[in-house]
Amino acid sequence: MALQSNLLMIVTLVIFFFLSFIAAHPGEHHDTIQVYKDMQKRGLEALNQKKELESCSGSEEAKARAVRAGERRAATVARLRKERGLEDVPMLHRRNMLHERTLAQFKSFEQISHDRTQTLKYNASTPHSTLFAANASCILTPDNADGPYYVLGEHIRTDVREGQPGVPMHLEMQFLDTTTCKGAQPLVVDIWSCNATGAYSGVSAAGEGGLDTTFLRGVQQTDVDGVVNFDTIFPGHYQGRATHEHIITHSGATILPNGTFQGGHVSHLSQLFFAPALLNAVEATAPYNTNKIPKTTNDADGFTGYAANAAYDPFPNYVMLGSKLSDGLFMWIELGIKPSNDVTSYASNAAFLQADGGHNNPNFNQYNVITPPSTHG
Ligand SMILES: *[C@@H]1O[C@H](CO)[C@@H](O)[C@H](O)[C@H]1NC(C)=O
Ligand SMILES: *[C@@H]1O[C@H](CO)[C@@H](O)[C@H](O)[C@H]1NC(C)=O
Ligand SMILES: *[C@@H]1O[C@H](CO)[C@@H](O)[C@H](O)[C@H]1NC(C)=O
Ligand SMILES: *[C@@H]1O[C@H](CO)[C@@H](O)[C@H](O)[C@H]1NC(C)=O
Repeated sequence: MALQSNLLMIVTLVIFFFLSFIAAHPGEHHDTIQVYKDMQKRGLEALNQKKELESCSGSEEAKARAVRAGERRAATVARLRKERGLEDVPMLHRRNMLHERTLAQFKSFEQISHDRTQTLKYNASTPHSTLFAANASCILTPDNADGPYYVLGEHIRTDVREGQPGVPMHLEMQFLDTTTCKGAQPLVVDIWSCNATGAYSGVSAAGEGGLDTTFLRGVQQTDVDGVVNFDTIFPGHYQGRATHEHIITHSGATILPNGTFQGGHVSHLSQLFFAPALLNAVEATAPYNTNKIPKTTNDADGFTGYAANAAYDPFPNYVMLGSKLSDGLFMWIELGIKPSNDVTSYASNAAFLQADGGHNNPNFNQYNVITPPSTHG
């Protein structure tokens, strides 16, 4: 009950927070009352989903899934190490990455170290299943922040790097259907982020990669356990936002013969954020450290405040694949979603990709793209 009322308070605070930047943009035509109602509704839905997910976690099915997840993640790490010639490099070198002091709203959250090597005091005899089994299922915030740079129609592919320099990041996301307690499947998952120096592909806005670029964007379909895998790089940063990776899930979509998808509805949109210790370590390496745009900490980013609380943990777990960051990271997170949720109206796309390249979306609906003040994504 105490948890419920804390969460309600958070939802309410979040709503006030968003209303304050809606109010701060005179001249834009927002139906404030409707936005308020939508957010309140989705906030409450998320609380229910969280409860449903918790009640799933004790079942035999969930326990079996957790065992499979541990084995799967260990196998992925072994494969990545082999592919990258890291077999003889000490694995999961422990780094002394001290967590930063943060604001009160992050306190409970940062007591959880997302660096599993450190949390578990990994050594060579630690069973892989212990290291990778997660108990960290969460409901990501029911947000409406796909930002102005969503591109519809990207390619179904695992590797989205296209040679972009940066810390290689293998991201495994497992989506659980909170209504059935099973892996969410079929589900089409779209991810995108900026590159190491803060530029997005696929959009025509000044300073970005342009309509005909597709780097760091891709789509995957979940398997029976609700799992997708991407090879990307750790995102960089740009003005006014903390480092983040965008996620959209599409339910009921159709896969097309040309390796794209169409149709269905957007059942979830949100952003992953990264633990400060990791973020700072990455930002200290090239080419991230050539980016002169001031960094925005998680604490200063409106969306992390919204995303991170006792119920919502938007920071993926991670291990290093070798002994240095440039060897790459394996990251994983489990997310609860409700496939019948329809937040399509909040997922307006700035551009779309076709066989002949990218195009601006003439119907791009800026109305539904609510971003914090003085930011662009
Ligand atoms: C590995 O870690 C476990 C648990 O922390 C500990 O009991 C064991 O002694 C360690 N083994 C080595 C070789 O350090
Ligand atoms: C998993 O979560 C449950 C419920 O929150 C908790 O009681 C349990 O200790 C957790 N297990 C691990 C291994 O963290
Ligand atoms: C990021 O993308 C922009 C736009 O394409 C490009 O100019 C820049 O060099 C890229 N950053 C890196 C580190 O390659
Ligand atoms: C894929 O096929 C669809 C349907 O024919 C088409 O609309 C779309 O432009 C194609 N996309 C690409 C990237 O070729």
